[in-house]
Amino acid sequence: MLYIEAARNKATKRPPVWLMRQAGRYLPEYRELRSRHSFLDMCNVPELAAEVTLQPIRRFGFDAAILFSDILVPLVPMGADLTFNEGAGPRISNVLRTSVDVAGMKVIDPDHDLTNVLKAIRIIRRELSSETALIGFAGAPFTLASYWVEGGKPDPFRNLKTMMYQDPTTFHQMMNKLSDTVADSLSAMVRSGANAVQVFDTWGGILPAHEFRAYNLPYLKKIFTKLQSLGVPLTYFVKDGGHLLQDVREVGATVVGIDWRTSLSVAHLQLGNEIALQGNLDPTMLFAPEQMIRSEARRIMSEATDLGGFIFNLGHGILPQTPISSVECLIDEIKCRKI
Ligand code: CP3
Repeated sequence: MLYIEAARNKATKRPPVWLMRQAGRYLPEYRELRSRHSFLDMCNVPELAAEVTLQPIRRFGFDAAILFSDILVPLVPMGADLTFNEGAGPRISNVLRTSVDVAGMKVIDPDHDLTNVLKAIRIIRRELSSETALIGFAGAPFTLASYWVEGGKPDPFRNLKTMMYQDPTTFHQMMNKLSDTVADSLSAMVRSGANAVQVFDTWGGILPAHEFRAYNLPYLKKIFTKLQSLGVPLTYFVKDGGHLLQDVREVGATVVGIDWRTSLSVAHLQLGNEIALQGNLDPTMLFAPEQMIRSEARRIMSEATDLGGFIFNLGHGILPQTPISSVECLIDEIKCRKI
């Protein structure tokens, strides 16, 4: 598998390519299925999750499929009242604020509480060609905490920061429970057939480096240490994390996902020779004219040449309004490339 080679930090004849949120609303076949099912049903019915995961693989021939689910799904068996409202994004009504709330968080057993997700993985792995990797994923504890403590889109993080500063013991208890869920879910996904895993830390980048080290890094290290023995590539993606790369080096990831604000060469200098890179096309570049998309893809690939393993991706999720033709021309540019 080209994806696995690059994720193991080997130089490849062309970079493998997949896109974050590659299964989703920019695809007419996704919108068709979604018009008949709720988002959470699509995550929870294994046959639907498998179908949606495979849609972008059939259409574009990406080198990796990512399980169709959501980082917030494992919070439901932990006790969260999660809903996805049209246009407003996720909402959790029973927010975590006090030590009593945190004491009530359940510790999950993925084989029992995430059976649908694991069944979807087994179906997808059976359907995929042996050349296409299947990526399992979870949210980083800090990002999951952001949603649960704030009750939805976290910005400006007032309640989470209040807990961090006023009641660090409760904050750390919450992070420990979330870390166990994340590590156990990812291990179960690999046992069910995922070839690699990725941890999404969408909000980790809001912390300055000294707070990242105190409140986030210890949990990431714990998770990645537990996952080492699975023997699969482990990716850590942090959005807006350019100022954190010295510390990200210590997470224990095989691959680090970089957003478009940080250049790959700067990231490589700070992360060192042992870590493969993934990224980092600005998702809004897919609204540019075709020639600009192509030249930007070439610029990224030439920057990545000689840096070791490299996986082409966006710097964050693909936007729902993205034209299909832009994705087609991006894939064409990458796949036709002879390095
Ligand atoms: O990448 C993939 O194709 C796999 C599936 C996937 C989804 N969400 C599907 C989804 C993955 C890997 C995620 C991760 C996720 N979910 C993150 C981390 C990565 C990131 O984007 O920063 C976060 C923060 C979430 C939480 C979440 N889920 C939000 C904030 C939203 C609403 C925002 C939006 O884009 O509408 C979701 C909903 C969601 N998750 C959708 C999809 C396809 C849209 C749901 C719909 O069809 O209405």
